[in-house]
Amino acid sequence: MELTLNRAVLDIPPIGIRAFADLARSTPGAVSLTIGEPDLNTPEAVKEAAKRALDANDTHYPEGNGNLYLRQAIAAFERRRNGLAYDPEEIIVTIGATGALFAGLFTILNPGDEVIIPTPAFSLYEAIVRLCRGVPVALPTENDRFQVDPDKLRRALTAKTKAVILTSPNNPTGCVYTQETLEGLHRVLKDQPVFVLCDEVYRQLTYTDSFRSFSAYQDMHDRILVVQSFSKPYAMTGWRVGYLMADAAVRERAQMVHQYGVVAAPSFIQPACAEALNYDNSADVALFRRRRDYVYSRLTEMGLPVEKPEGAFYVFAGISQFGMDSLTFCTRMVREGLVAAVPGCYFGTEGYMRISYCYGDDELRDGLNRIQRFIRSL
Ligand SMILES: Cc1ncc(COP(=O)(O)O)c(C=O)c1O
Repeated sequence: MELTLNRAVLDIPPIGIRAFADLARSTPGAVSLTIGEPDLNTPEAVKEAAKRALDANDTHYPEGNGNLYLRQAIAAFERRRNGLAYDPEEIIVTIGATGALFAGLFTILNPGDEVIIPTPAFSLYEAIVRLCRGVPVALPTENDRFQVDPDKLRRALTAKTKAVILTSPNNPTGCVYTQETLEGLHRVLKDQPVFVLCDEVYRQLTYTDSFRSFSAYQDMHDRILVVQSFSKPYAMTGWRVGYLMADAAVRERAQMVHQYGVVAAPSFIQPACAEALNYDNSADVALFRRRRDYVYSRLTEMGLPVEKPEGAFYVFAGISQFGMDSLTFCTRMVREGLVAAVPGCYFGTEGYMRISYCYGDDELRDGLNRIQRFIRSL
């Protein structure tokens, strides 16, 4: 008896970054600069709030879209910090930003619908679009300093385009979209029957005062979906909680995907999430900014082409001058140079490696010294 599995599931590869981090881990003496999570701990007040909730037996089914007090806290936070006007009724508390991406994309995509993904991009987008039976369409940005060129976007639009994903600050480049980019994109998209999914998981980790997001174009409120996470700004990656914000009509359907999939985000972490929104992360931002400056100056001194990141905690460095594909380069760098960075191919762009600076000063210095020695040896 032969049973076939879901072709959409069979067709997607395992998460590449994890496999590469495993290679670094299993290489004795290797330093890894691969990880995509803060090397900090969750703030004490946040942990205390979860402990109190457990002791108070806040362990029963919560509201499907997240408890009202948390959605109210999120709405107030978004208004105060990010200038976004979303009603608590337009918010779903999800299992990480990943859950928000999945609920959002599953809600809007029909089989064969195209999703434009500016590359390099967070690798889960392509896989999630495929799982939703959509068609990912890469829009390369490496020749445009990792900005999305509005004319190129216009040319990529087809009758099948259902959505565009915009990630600023970006993983893996750390770049933020300029005001000029945003205005150009808005001009192209405002009259198109296309959703714009704004992944803002690094929004609270920016090193510029001029950060603006596409989500500010609320004349497109009915077509914008905002994906957010508690993971990165509050060192809460293991808590697995994020949220989706969308116009009520979209939210009403997205909650079907979310609630039939997971019922709800866990109850006793919700008071802790509300507490996290009060956390002042400016000292953490200052720490990451200092590291960004260090890593950027070291890499430019080595002669590697780098666009200065304005957010997140990654630098995407050019390595095409060494005449190898990024997987070969990074594999050799682990084996011969005992230092690991993530090959650009895992973000859909050849000729680069992603270096994370979620590491202490000594580790960063050691890792960068090793990169320098390795590239000199080539
Ligand atoms: C751009 C981007 N979006 C979404 C996510 C997923 O975040 P979460 O931990 O909230 O699922 C990540 C994680 O690395 C990311 O880099």
